[in-house]
Amino acid sequence: MSIVIEPPRSAKPRRTNWEKWGWIYMRLSGVALIVLVFGHLFANLWVGEGIKAIDFAFVAGKWADPFWQVWDLAMLWLALIHGTNGMRTIVNDYAEREKTRKLLVWILWATCAALVVLGTLVIFTFDPCPANGTIENLPSFCPAVK
Ligand code: HEM
Repeated sequence: MSIVIEPPRSAKPRRTNWEKWGWIYMRLSGVALIVLVFGHLFANLWVGEGIKAIDFAFVAGKWADPFWQVWDLAMLWLALIHGTNGMRTIVNDYAEREKTRKLLVWILWATCAALVVLGTLVIFTFDPCPANGTIENLPSFCPAVK
């Protein structure tokens, strides 16, 4: 049985055209990702001491700032949904059996959801001053360092 994917340009009033919105999402998230990814690389690898500065304290310091929490959260969500939707397109192009296609697409979104939830939890529950952290590895604002 051949698989029919909804044409992105089909005009069907009263029904959401998910292929069209997926197409638009890929372009908009792509543009946002250029800014987010290059901003991320610039802040981590270019300014200050560059790559040599990256350690636990560096990451802890960044995630103590809501600006970088939101930046990393946007990068996580946009890139994961973008990558998953892109993989869905590839699966739609190549899977020959409808059951296989549905299973693969289901696995893709389940994996995406799990990673989005885990990543979001990490960003917002991260402890920059763990009790068992050695002083030389902790950021300067931790009580143990002062
Ligand atoms: C630098 C930022 C990025 C830009 C500007 C960008 C742009 C795009 C665009 C416009 C498409 C749609 C292509 C089409 O419909 O023919 C696309 C597809 C895709 N993107 Fe991205 N993307 C970026 C980052 C990423 C990242 C971080 C991932 C992985 C997590 C990713 C994975 C994919 C995949 C798997 C596809 C589907 C490829 C296909 O249909 O053959 N992209 N990208």
